[in-house]
Amino acid sequence: MPQKKHSIHTIQKMKTTGEKVAWLTAYDYPTAQFAEAAGMDMLLVGDSLGMCVYGYEGTVPVTMDQCIVHCEAVRRGAPNTFVLGDMPFMSYQASDEEAVRNAGRFLKEAGVDGVKLEGGKRVLSRIKAILDAGIVVCGHIGLTPQSSGQLGGHKAQGRTIDSARPLIEDALAIEEAGAQMLLLEAVPPEVAGFIARKLSIPVLSIGAGPYCDGQLLIVSDLIGQFQAFTPKFVKKYCNVAEIITNAMRAYIDDVKAGRFPADEHCYHMLKGEKEKFEELIKEGL
Ligand code: KIV
Repeated sequence: MPQKKHSIHTIQKMKTTGEKVAWLTAYDYPTAQFAEAAGMDMLLVGDSLGMCVYGYEGTVPVTMDQCIVHCEAVRRGAPNTFVLGDMPFMSYQASDEEAVRNAGRFLKEAGVDGVKLEGGKRVLSRIKAILDAGIVVCGHIGLTPQSSGQLGGHKAQGRTIDSARPLIEDALAIEEAGAQMLLLEAVPPEVAGFIARKLSIPVLSIGAGPYCDGQLLIVSDLIGQFQAFTPKFVKKYCNVAEIITNAMRAYIDDVKAGRFPADEHCYHMLKGEKEKFEELIKEGL
């Protein structure tokens, strides 16, 4: 049976009932189809597509146009799943106006259900402006890859009481601003659990332990496709890199050995045509 269209209410209700939200990134149409068929609650078209799809070293080079193209594909593949677009670096940093315009593009051009943006108190006016435009917003604090330069690299955040306090303040401020959900990245489970209990909006985790209202993983990590590095919080559920490489090796071997294509892969001439064709060849065509 096709899945009923998920809305922000579906996700918010899960916090009330205690059902954990299963959230995954997706960047393309087939992956989005698989995710919806599997029963995924939410998808994120993350700016991690910079690394996972385009081979960049980080997320900073990702553009709005790239995000929109991938959001469109994911929306087509998962029409009933709750899909968030990830606002790339410099799509919201310069001004509230630019943030609203770019957040609006995600909905207008790609038909996604809302946007996620990185940062706490310092992006509060952006969050409010996007919400005022009627767009669902997910905050994102902790390890925020777009500002990893300021954080001194891709490091877990809030591991001391002194560094946990500003995270908790950011989380409260984001809820107070009206955001509908919050993502915590690479935060200790004790701190994340406290935030999840304190907030009434769904608090999701990527590397923030089991006490949040749901989990996010990067699909390229989950399926064992991304090769450059594996963060501590990743669980690989299969190894498609190995499966695909082995399949390609087998294909190369078959081609070299003349085993591919076999008879069943050929479009033969229609009945009676082959014999006539052979006669014609004998006669010099
Ligand atoms: O781009 C992304 O996939 C993300 C996650 C790392 C949280 O923002």
